[in-house]
Amino acid sequence: MQAVGQLASGCAHHFNNLLTVINGYAQFLIGALGPDSPLVRDAEAIWKAGERAASLTSQLLAFGCPAEVQTRALDLNDVLRDVGEMLHSLLGEDVVLKIKLAEDLGMVKVNPGQMEVVVLNLATNAREAMPSGGVLSLETANVELDRAYAARHPGVEPGHYVMMTVSDSGCGMTPEVRERIFEPFFTTKDPVTRAGMGLATVYGIIEQSGGHI
Ligand SMILES: Nc1ncnc2c1ncn2[C@@H]1O[C@H](COP(=O)(O)OP(=O)(O)OP(=O)(O)O)[C@@H](O)[C@H]1O
Ligand SMILES: [Mg+2]
Repeated sequence: MQAVGQLASGCAHHFNNLLTVINGYAQFLIGALGPDSPLVRDAEAIWKAGERAASLTSQLLAFGCPAEVQTRALDLNDVLRDVGEMLHSLLGEDVVLKIKLAEDLGMVKVNPGQMEVVVLNLATNAREAMPSGGVLSLETANVELDRAYAARHPGVEPGHYVMMTVSDSGCGMTPEVRERIFEPFFTTKDPVTRAGMGLATVYGIIEQSGGHI
């Protein structure tokens, strides 16, 4: 089983690199064609399929063989700057993107591709929660989690952390939905087309990176 896991996550790395190129060029195409072009829907279909493939690949990376995921010291501000451009086109014109980056932000040891997957999954959910527009806010900060906080959040060790806050002005969720959001295959959207894996993937990546969500 371990060999299968290694094979899966090794392949996943290569796939991820290729998908980044495919999705990047698809986005360039969408931008270059413009909204009135008859071909823009085809380019969008390529991009959407590529995004789904990337999300599936990240699940292989997150659950297939965590030991194989390569991490390095990273500034989360850089991740947000890097995905900023992509976020603007993902969110569309009706959603205002507000980014507030802390100065002297601490470094975190994570896989850069996985952190992008985290941000993109959260931003996608936010956009879907704001069908007629709104505000998506991304914020970074250095925080200290004390014993009282740790006592309220099982699995959290007190100490210094880097925090990334993602909030939207969308529909929000009921306490019942909120209780289940990290469950794999849980979705309140169209179950035929939706995997309900976005937040389960995010959860897997964050926990595996030694973080907390
Ligand atoms: N920003 C948000 N605002 C309101 N509800 C949300 C938000 N993010 C997630 N949810 C709720 O949590 C559920 C699970 O989210 P998740 O991203 O795991 O799956 P999904 O978006 O339904 O499908 P997928 O991400 O696989 O396409 C959603 O169906 C939705 O009900
Ligand atoms: Mg989602």
